[in-house]
Amino acid sequence: VRLADLPTPALVVDHEGFRANVATMGDRWPGAALRPHVKAFKSTALAHQLAASGHTGFCCATIREVEGMAAAGLGADLLLANEVLDAGRLGALVRADAARVTVAVDSPETIAAAAAAGVREVLIDVNVGLPRCGCDPGDAGRLADEARAAGLTVRGVMGYEGHVVGLADRAARTDQTATAMALLGEAHAAVGGDVVSGGGTGTWDLNTWITELQAGSFTLLDTAYDELGLPFRPALCVLGTVISTNATAGYAVADVGLKSLGMDHGNPLVDGATVWFCSDEHTTFGPPRGTAYGDWPVRVGDRVAVWPAHIDPTIALHAQLSVIDGPIGPRTGATIDPTAEVVDTWPVDLRNW
Ligand SMILES: Cc1ncc(COP(=O)(O)O)c(C=O)c1O
Repeated sequence: VRLADLPTPALVVDHEGFRANVATMGDRWPGAALRPHVKAFKSTALAHQLAASGHTGFCCATIREVEGMAAAGLGADLLLANEVLDAGRLGALVRADAARVTVAVDSPETIAAAAAAGVREVLIDVNVGLPRCGCDPGDAGRLADEARAAGLTVRGVMGYEGHVVGLADRAARTDQTATAMALLGEAHAAVGGDVVSGGGTGTWDLNTWITELQAGSFTLLDTAYDELGLPFRPALCVLGTVISTNATAGYAVADVGLKSLGMDHGNPLVDGATVWFCSDEHTTFGPPRGTAYGDWPVRVGDRVAVWPAHIDPTIALHAQLSVIDGPIGPRTGATIDPTAEVVDTWPVDLRNW
């Protein structure tokens, strides 16, 4: 099967880019120091490759991800880096010895739910500035005592500086990581334990306070992260077909739209083109500024690479990843070589809840 044969829209992975991204990350965070976040890619086939590179502990965001990783034999050390009240399915995995499961807790209710379900290990989740989950740093010690009193092992703390990872200015990213991690350090002093878990792709080389990095996006990267100038390369596109063109108005239309793209970080990119807008099933794009439509080689039936601004919600919309040896290109023009062979297919098997 070649790219030309795939029904579109379809996710395409540049395997060479993926391997390079993993190698770069692994140099700085070898083995268990990297706890890849599976929410980014939701595929146990991809996770198996990270495990083969020595990264055998993983972060999950949903119970379904924990279950799927355990079923795939990747349950050596799974952290559900998220709060849950319906912990029963996690307790069942622990009782069956199907996985080592640690769950994040930030309240008496989540501690009670973990203990009642038979989960044995927790991390105290600390709010380090992202107004999402996590307790106030000053409450972490008390919650750890409460968890221990409930019979749970407290492995340490986690705190995700999600408000910092995407900051365009590296100096601001550096300063705010330090501020966030000072809060996590304060909480860790009160909690104890070996684990200080946090960080993301955007702070991968700035966060020097943690014992393990929770990054996931670095594997396949997206255009939002690519703007930060990180040493990772975009390795995932949504392959589309040009289904219509308009020479009078000067645009082309690909069959990739809101329903096959995560749009929360903005419009996707098409190389050698200006994206006008996306609608349900379409991306309308024209020549780059300064190029006349007549000089722009985009024709009905061409295959185009549409590069998503945010990979996590994009991948969650699709059933599989079609893998080529890579790179996806050429990245100088809008249309890509449709003769590239699809060498593998990875199911996106960790979707839903
Ligand atoms: C809890 C948690 N940790 C880490 C990450 C890091 O992910 P990324 O590699 O996308 O920066 C995320 C992503 O949103 C997250 O939710």
